[in-house]
Amino acid sequence: MEIVICKTKKEASRKAADMIAKLVKENPKCVLGLATGSTPVEMYDCLAKDVKAKKISFKNVKSWNLDEYYGLAPTHDQSYRYFMNENFFDKIDIKKSNTHVLNGLAKDWRKECAAYEAQIKKAGGIDLQVLGIGSDGHIAFNEPGSSLASRTRIVYLTPQTIKDNARFFKKASDVPVSALSMGVGTICEAKKVVLLAFGKNKADAVKGMVEGGMSQFCTASALQAHNDAWVFCDEEAASKLKLKKFYAWRSEIEMKG
Ligand code: PGA
Repeated sequence: MEIVICKTKKEASRKAADMIAKLVKENPKCVLGLATGSTPVEMYDCLAKDVKAKKISFKNVKSWNLDEYYGLAPTHDQSYRYFMNENFFDKIDIKKSNTHVLNGLAKDWRKECAAYEAQIKKAGGIDLQVLGIGSDGHIAFNEPGSSLASRTRIVYLTPQTIKDNARFFKKASDVPVSALSMGVGTICEAKKVVLLAFGKNKADAVKGMVEGGMSQFCTASALQAHNDAWVFCDEEAASKLKLKKFYAWRSEIEMKG
């Protein structure tokens, strides 16, 4: 795992966007795995600026999102489909038909999740997966206790995640208690992973992911076994890392290569 520690969220977002932009330039037909949450918004804005400046194009890019609240329609303003349209897809030149988000209204969630996995496989797998991290160390909605081999399925949200996400809803009881989510195993199959983490609220999760044991109690720690995983964080999110100076020095060398 490479840990890129930046002074600000702005700088980290730009660096992560550059990594994605490089891939899109090299492989205009690449397959991206995308994430929601407040963390990647600035990075999406950077990419939208690149599209506007005609530096890159998403015309032939395909995307699959990590997760969706179960029970929310794609038109619901807190659904992740709605979020992606608002924060990214409507600002770039991607074809909507090339973007995929799990259907939160699927009656048969097993069928929906199996079809999603099959679509990703048919597209050749995910070239680059964008991730945030929950304050409990989750990636996508793989809460503590999720198998590190898990696949796309229905999942249940912890009280901590419901509390964290309540800020987007009128009240905590409006937050859905379940979701459809790619599994840890699904995520780890991506060829490259770019995880973003900002703020002191993420410091414990980042510590667990990077320097804790690999454990289903902190599902992001599964990335320790990935051979091309990049963490872009600010100094607050990195503040609890024992070897932060070493990671910062090493990542500067690795970024050049
Ligand atoms: P956040 O969520 O970006 O809104 O902090 C991250 C996550 O839960 O994965």
